[in-house]
Amino acid sequence: MNLLLFGAPGAGKGTQGKRLSEHCRIPKFATGDILRDAVRDDSPLGREAKCYMDRGDLVPDEVMLGLIREVLASPGAQAGFILDGFPRTLVQAEGLKAALAQEGRELDFVIYFDVSGEELLRRMRGRRVCPQCGAVYNVSAEAPQTEGVCDRCGGRLEQREDDMDEATLVNRLRVYRENTEPLLEWYGTQRAQMRSIDATGSVDEVFEKLVGAVGCS
Ligand code: AP5
Repeated sequence: MNLLLFGAPGAGKGTQGKRLSEHCRIPKFATGDILRDAVRDDSPLGREAKCYMDRGDLVPDEVMLGLIREVLASPGAQAGFILDGFPRTLVQAEGLKAALAQEGRELDFVIYFDVSGEELLRRMRGRRVCPQCGAVYNVSAEAPQTEGVCDRCGGRLEQREDDMDEATLVNRLRVYRENTEPLLEWYGTQRAQMRSIDATGSVDEVFEKLVGAVGCS
């Protein structure tokens, strides 16, 4: 199954994608995570992406298309994939379609996570991540048992750099509305099945809806 998780920053794509990946045994690829790893490693990709990410702007399409072609060609993505955070522009969406078509593949589902603007800001402001194991928490809704400490590995939780600055948060939402949200209409004209889920309930409630939407038992 080839799936795309679509929605605004903070909508819960990473949280749900991880659970879905484990539940359905389909590998998940999140472009934001790949870029953050590249920044941490100070690789050429990371050095190029960092200034865009710090501002909450999009990394240029040609860079992202190169990255996604590598992802799709990787052995792990051959039997199916969950994409999180890609595509974010029409150029990326068309590039993804072409890259899949070249290999005789296509998207099966596009899942749209519907969350209001205020809730998105609340989720991003409260997000804490574990730099050691990648676990994601929230100070209000998904808090760790001990404040500031990862339940899974004991790592010290951090705030993502692009969640710290209010102007960057607001810019990410603006960039989403202007560049990415219009893709919803475009996907409505494509073969992939488009499913919209109300992603405002608890993490468990949203997961139940997600599993129901993709039909993976
Ligand atoms: P990226 O990492 O993709 O960030 P994003 O789209 O801004 O998405 P988020 O990671 O913020 O949100 P999410 O939907 O995964 O939410 P999460 O599950 O963490 O991109 C970062 C940057 O990289 C971009 O700004 C750009 O510069 C660059 N980039 C990446 N891809 C690119 C591309 N294709 N093209 C160009 N540039 C690209 O949840 C958020 C919080 O809410 C967490 O604290 C979580 O615990 C909590 N939460 C989750 N679900 C619930 C719930 N049901 N109830 C209450 N709280 C919840």
